[in-house]
Amino acid sequence: MIHPRDARRLLMDWFQSARRDLPWRRTRDPWRILLSEVMLQQTRVSVVIPYYERFLDRYPTPAALAAAPEAEALALWSGLGYYARARNLQRAATEIAARGVFPQTYEEIASLPGVGDYTAAAVASIAFGLAHAVLDGNVIRVLSRFTAETRDVQAQSVRVRLKEEAQRLLDPARPGDFNQAMMELGATVCLPKTPQCLLCPWRDHCQARALGREQELPIKGRKREPVKLQITLLLVERQSAGKRFVLMRQRGAHESRLQGFWELPEERDLPHAVRGVRLGEFKHSITRHDYTIEVFTAKLSRAGRGHRWIAIDALDSLPLATTARKALALRDELYTP
Ligand code: ADE
Repeated sequence: MIHPRDARRLLMDWFQSARRDLPWRRTRDPWRILLSEVMLQQTRVSVVIPYYERFLDRYPTPAALAAAPEAEALALWSGLGYYARARNLQRAATEIAARGVFPQTYEEIASLPGVGDYTAAAVASIAFGLAHAVLDGNVIRVLSRFTAETRDVQAQSVRVRLKEEAQRLLDPARPGDFNQAMMELGATVCLPKTPQCLLCPWRDHCQARALGREQELPIKGRKREPVKLQITLLLVERQSAGKRFVLMRQRGAHESRLQGFWELPEERDLPHAVRGVRLGEFKHSITRHDYTIEVFTAKLSRAGRGHRWIAIDALDSLPLATTARKALALRDELYTP
């Protein structure tokens, strides 16, 4: 077994030359690092970058986000999904602004709303140089292969062991770079289906590779099949005083997700609508549900309960559900020659 000191050196040397130049790697401002880590939790780097930049332009400090209307922050987050992240971030910003300084210890950072062990360790190590190892999906994959962990990585006891392994390997002198190197290795080399072992700094020390089992690991039990669902959305337009309006529905506080977001009406909620042409269909997945969404134009004489006419040129300033964005893009194809 390779000594942690040697494994660390191989990894850090590799990271030196392989690290991607990402906007949040040019700063140690804890606010910027918190924002990047919250955005990166469930979203890929390439998707996050433009959102990160727009969000920081508007909210360069926690105080700026704390003072913003929630709907405005959600509109800037719209498309990234998992909107609880944006709401919690605003609550965290409010707490930080009230304190006057960004919390400086792991425990204080972890006590912020929406900040779990992963985010607290990432911010503590990257912004403050504190020796806390992160364990995210990428790190779990790297370490389960490196140590040939053949048990179910969804089991709590296995997580605890992998976290101990991460902490044992962590470079105490540069914990932020070490954590980012582990995540980078998982994101760019130790890929889920096609690990690029020849590019890996640990290729000669990886136990899964020595056993020829790198493709099988990590083992994830309890995989459930996605549920397939079909929805029909209606695009109902009308003209009034020289402006075009589209019928929209805002999600209410009692709904389980996307509260406050605007979406197109579903056909099943508008029994008096008359279908027009089919604009197309698209797929949309959330957690375990795979939706196929068909979109039709429709005619309707008056807005039913819970629906409102929204001027088309005002849509950009509303928090729009991703399904509404995708459906409206089909409309734009129809209207642009
Ligand atoms: N994924 C989440 N945070 C990351 C970071 N700081 N570097 C690389 N990948 C990441």
